[in-house]
Amino acid sequence: MSVWAVVVAGGSGERFGALKQFAMLGGRPLYQWALDAARPAVDGMVLVVPAGSSPSPSGAARVVEGGATRSASVRAGLEAVPGDADLIVVHDAARPLATTALFRAVIAGVRAGADAAIPALAVADTLKMVRHDVVVRTVPRHGVVAVQTPQAFSSKVLRAAHAAGGEATDDAALVEEAGATVRVVPGDPRNLKVTTPAELELVQALVGGAR
Ligand code: CTP
Ligand code: MG
Repeated sequence: MSVWAVVVAGGSGERFGALKQFAMLGGRPLYQWALDAARPAVDGMVLVVPAGSSPSPSGAARVVEGGATRSASVRAGLEAVPGDADLIVVHDAARPLATTALFRAVIAGVRAGADAAIPALAVADTLKMVRHDVVVRTVPRHGVVAVQTPQAFSSKVLRAAHAAGGEATDDAALVEEAGATVRVVPGDPRNLKVTTPAELELVQALVGGAR
């Protein structure tokens, strides 16, 4: 069974204030952390980058230019994945601390028969719906999880879900809409997503002096 990874690093980092995927962490840019975590678990990798940028990743990744949205960038990446790949794992470069073990866990979920497998964590905070800074109501959090990447898919299911050109903040959402089975595996609390400079400080603290 051939497994490919698509690492999306084609965003503009509006909330971060810069191209966060190129920010350095322990001597390596964030996108390289993502590739290095994926590599032992997969047969090939595609790195999706912003138009006009020319990073030189190590680890034999195919580099392609992304699109205006995350979903468009994933579709650009899918075009560079060989047609005979059985399984595709999509991962955000903005999550540099994903482990190879987490890649293997979601891949195992699909190998076991699910159309997709995604990492999820129970939500610890109380959730509230707000409007204009005023609470409308408290949202029950029972059965609610926060999901991460990497997300693994049967390549047929992922390609079909993207064929309609839909938009969502993750790929599982498109696959869910198509009625496929998305299985959940335990996420990793250290697999933080860098959205603002505060999360870059957190991941820097987590890796300490690692080089
Ligand atoms: N991404 C992408 N192409 C886009 C938008 C996002 O490849 N057009 C990637 C980002 O590089 C990131 C991941 O998708 O690795 C998750 O997106 P997000 O955290 O939202 O990053 P940005 O879109 O860059 O940030 P912002 O929304 O603050 O602009
Ligand atoms: Mg974004």
